[in-house]
Amino acid sequence: MGKIILTGDRPTGKLHLGHYVGSLRRRVQLQESGDFERMFVFMADVQALTDNADNPEKIRQNIIEVALDYLSAGLNPTKCTLFIQSQIPELAELTTYLMNLVSVSRVQRNPTVKTEIKMRNFEANLPMGFFCYPVSQAADITAFKATTVPAGEDQEPMIEITRELARRFNQTYGEVLVEPNIMLPENATSRRLPGTDGKEKMSKSLGNCIYLSDDADTVWKKVKGMYTDPTHLNLSDPGHVEGNAVFTYLDAFSTDQDFADFWPEYSNLDALKDAYTHGGVGDMKCKKLLNSVINRMLDPIRERRHEFEQDIPEIFNVLKKGSDEARAAAAQTMDEVRKAMQIDYFNDAALIKQQTDKYKK
Ligand code: TRP
Repeated sequence: MGKIILTGDRPTGKLHLGHYVGSLRRRVQLQESGDFERMFVFMADVQALTDNADNPEKIRQNIIEVALDYLSAGLNPTKCTLFIQSQIPELAELTTYLMNLVSVSRVQRNPTVKTEIKMRNFEANLPMGFFCYPVSQAADITAFKATTVPAGEDQEPMIEITRELARRFNQTYGEVLVEPNIMLPENATSRRLPGTDGKEKMSKSLGNCIYLSDDADTVWKKVKGMYTDPTHLNLSDPGHVEGNAVFTYLDAFSTDQDFADFWPEYSNLDALKDAYTHGGVGDMKCKKLLNSVINRMLDPIRERRHEFEQDIPEIFNVLKKGSDEARAAAAQTMDEVRKAMQIDYFNDAALIKQQTDKYKK
């Protein structure tokens, strides 16, 4: 059996460059490699509702935004199944059974959940659904028998719980579920892209994002305002590239071809870094380069987005078709789950015969 790849995002906003380097670009590469039996990418709207229960409109609006971002970044529905979590009721069913196999204290120890509870001020009033989302996520993964989950480091505790639950299920009821492995981003810059303000993470709530769907003017405005090196005051001052967001972005996105086309004075990023560190290179020039690099990368994505935007009903058709396909896969696993748990009463000839014999005089 080949790999089954599954991953997803909470549809709470448009996707940004952090999503692109951290996961989207990799997913497209995986998709094109063809090195898998099946690949699923989904919008985790059920999970998004666990901390947005009072704002379903936000989720509702962002389903299409995320779908457009997926498609314009290059995810191809003929190669990978795109679906919406809430449309697969089997996932809720599996969540219910998995909840019996993990303790409250085990979920409480999950560091990602801990941080999120603090960030959302949920300490005093923790929604049960939010607390249980790691179990629901384990169901998302195991219902498809996923072997491989491309995700960031913050998802490691979720995959760990998923593995424990799969193991526990199989020990208790028989071998049905598969223990998945996480597939982490390849390098440090892909793991966490800082915000345009230089803060640790690009994040919608911090307002420091460049979105895949930003137009060229918006990108330039954001790049112009980017955090660089606060000690680099005069052109001749030696500059620092560590902690300098412009250089972190150049690390993540620029190619030698970009230098040849946009700044031939330097043959590659190392040469520019060297000059910058010695002094004499202006921040504005670096920002102009970065702007060209980002726009070259985003142009084809924007173009495709514009095309997809012309036929929104077709995007919903694609998601419907993907959800139907995903549902069939999850339903197959659930048949096996119910059989293993011996709650498939109406198909259980042995049970019917046993009970018949018991009452036969
Ligand atoms: N928790 C993930 C996030 O916040 C989204 C997600 C939900 C997910 N279910 C998943 C990711 C299953 C990978 C596999 O981005």
